[in-house]
Amino acid sequence: MTSSLATVSYIGATILFILSLGGLANPETARRGNLFGIIGMAIAVLATVLGPRVTPAGIPWIIGALAVGGSIGLFAAKKVQMTQMPELVALMHSLVGLAACLVGFASYIDTSTVFPTEAEKAIHEVEIYIGILIGAVTFSGSIIAFGKLSGKIGGKPLLLPGRHMLNLVGLLVVIWFGREFLHVHDIQAGMTPLLVMTVIALLFGIHMVMAIGGADMPVVVSMLNSYSGWAAAATGFMLSNDLLIVVGALVGSSGAILSYIMCRAMNRNFISVIAGGFGGGAPAPAAAGGAAEPQGEVSPIAAAETAELLREAKSVIIVPGYGMAVAQAQHTVYEITKLLRAQGVNVRFGIHPVAGRMPGHMNVLLAEAKVPYDIVMEMDEINDDFPKTDVTMVIGANDIVNPAAQDDPTSPIAGMPVLEVWKAKTSIVMKRSMASGYAGVDNPLFYKDNNRMLFGDAKKMLDEVLAALRG
Ligand code: TAP
Repeated sequence: MTSSLATVSYIGATILFILSLGGLANPETARRGNLFGIIGMAIAVLATVLGPRVTPAGIPWIIGALAVGGSIGLFAAKKVQMTQMPELVALMHSLVGLAACLVGFASYIDTSTVFPTEAEKAIHEVEIYIGILIGAVTFSGSIIAFGKLSGKIGGKPLLLPGRHMLNLVGLLVVIWFGREFLHVHDIQAGMTPLLVMTVIALLFGIHMVMAIGGADMPVVVSMLNSYSGWAAAATGFMLSNDLLIVVGALVGSSGAILSYIMCRAMNRNFISVIAGGFGGGAPAPAAAGGAAEPQGEVSPIAAAETAELLREAKSVIIVPGYGMAVAQAQHTVYEITKLLRAQGVNVRFGIHPVAGRMPGHMNVLLAEAKVPYDIVMEMDEINDDFPKTDVTMVIGANDIVNPAAQDDPTSPIAGMPVLEVWKAKTSIVMKRSMASGYAGVDNPLFYKDNNRMLFGDAKKMLDEVLAALRG
């Protein structure tokens, strides 16, 4: 393939990636967006492999690597449960970071490129230094995020004494070694500052994500998504590959926008999240005069009574959460919805921006079950409607419907906007036990007078409700 054809293919792939991002912004166009992304990536890979910079001798190596990597990816994608998706995404981000580090070291020891001027050589070395720095932070941070999301590492933030000072000292050392790196004259001497910086960057990535509490993990996931984009862009600079720079910048900036949206959804300040410490795993002690611990008895309800309440209701709002994903109850939820709608009940869904474990988690599940988009409402669109609602059905959700976020300033989730399900005439919470949600905080909703608890696996309970409704 000639270099001009490769360039044209790269431009075509870039346009497809932009169309893909546009499509993914809306559930109705998401499939098309995904398809654009797949075609764009296929063009990008083909144009690179067949392009002028790959020698025929390199092709068998590339095909071998594609076969191994592709098989592992295919196996992982087939095997992974929907609920494990965020962990898989975190692992993939770590691979982007690792790739940036490896490409950085490889291009540093590669002596085949001759730079016409000292300035160009210095620019290339800055690219390598920054590329490895971003890559190492992304790599170790994503591994810790994987550990936290999969429950292998606890959600409680690790707050080292003087942690901000530690980070600052680390940054100064990295800058100092960067200066050293640019001043050395041979590769061997340059390895020491490069390795020291890599170790500091790896430790920084670990420290940064370890310091973030469970409730703030959504922001971390999207932030690491952004970092992985910048790591890819840095790799593009090191390899002088324009497409990688553009794609990396697209991922980096869209991840940054998503982080901002996540912060707004959780009423958090981005800098405070990065600085860590919010959203600890354990409930904070109630301050003097603050809201008291939830008290009282919970009122259980049976599936048959739930069906009765639903049948008599004029309006119903369903609030799905992580437990619906675990139970894979979305199809039964839609069966119940269809049945109620056929009887004239106004049924809608209320979706919290951080429900589940990844952005858009609930939308994906409901789309899979073919729930019409026009009855799936965002939190801001539906929150004012709860007082006019007869029954809210909370399916495996907990933190996103916790009134403590509004009433208890000492709560780790204080200030996070929540779906005000308790304002409906009756709320029914479907979960297996009294266990807390991801943020590890107790939920006063369960003890409210107008709340009923339908204990059990969401799928099993909903099957019983459906049977009772049909009966
Ligand atoms: P959670 O607060 O985690 O609550 C889920 C509830 O589902 C649990 O209390 C659990 O109670 C119940 N459950 C689990 N399996 C179930 C099953 N088979 N049947 C019925 N219930 C089941 O979920 P949420 O309300 O969706 O809130 C999301 C949380 O995750 C937030 O804290 C958010 O910050 C965090 N988070 C979100 C993201 C993104 S981007 N969405 C990423 C990382 C973290 P039982 O064990 O008693 O059944």
